[in-house]
Amino acid sequence: MKKAAALAAIEHVQSGWVVGIGTGSTANHFIDALARIKGKIDGAVASSNATAERLKKHGIAVLDLNATGDLPLYVDGADEATRHRHLIKGGGGALTREKIVAAACKKFICIADESKLVDTLGKFPLPVEVVPMARSLVARKIVELGGDPVWRQGFTTDNGNIILDVHNLNILNPVELEGQLDHLTGVVTNGLFARRPADLLLFGGSQGVRSI
Ligand code: A5P
Repeated sequence: MKKAAALAAIEHVQSGWVVGIGTGSTANHFIDALARIKGKIDGAVASSNATAERLKKHGIAVLDLNATGDLPLYVDGADEATRHRHLIKGGGGALTREKIVAAACKKFICIADESKLVDTLGKFPLPVEVVPMARSLVARKIVELGGDPVWRQGFTTDNGNIILDVHNLNILNPVELEGQLDHLTGVVTNGLFARRPADLLLFGGSQGVRSI
C-alpha cells in the first residue's frame, strides 16, 4: 500500500525538476521509483541523512536547499493525516528538516497507507525536537499544555538535538497547538504539519490509491 502511494506520486514529477524527498519507509519506496526516472530530474533535496544516503546509492544528485531556491515538489510520508491534510510527522525523527523542505516547496504530496488516515490527530505520540539542555524545561511546559512527554532515549536527531514524544493529546486545533509548541523556548520544531499542510494526500489501500 505504501509502494502504491509512492508510485502514484511519481506521476507528479516533471522533467528538469529538483524534488524534495522525505524520510521513512514510504518515502524510501518513492526514492526507489524515482531512481528509475532519474535521468528526467535535475536532482533532489533530502530531508535527512538517511534519505541523502539512499538517494546517493541510486546515483541521484543530492543538492543543498540553499542553492536550489524553492522546490516545485516535495514528497513525504506521515504518521497520521486528517481529511484537512493536517499531519503528524517525525516518527523517524526527521521532522525539522522535513518541515524546512515543506516550507520551501510549492506542492507537498503526502504518501501513506490508508491506516494513517484519522479523524483527529494525537493517537500517534507527537514528536517535538528540543535543544538538549532544555529537555526538562520543555517537558514541564508540555505537561502544562496537557500532554505527557516521553524522552526518546538513545536517539539524537541529524541536528544534534533530542526528541520528546508527546502522548495523550487529543488535537482538536492543530494549527493553534503547532504555534504554541513552537513558541516554547528550547523547542526547535514540532511534528504537527498544519500551518503548512499537505496539498495532496495519496493513500494506498485495498481498493487502490485514493486522493484527498
Ligand atoms: C520521519 O521523521 C517521519 O516524518 C516519516 O515521514 C513518518 O514517520 C512516516 O514513516 P513511514 O513512511 O515509515 O510510515
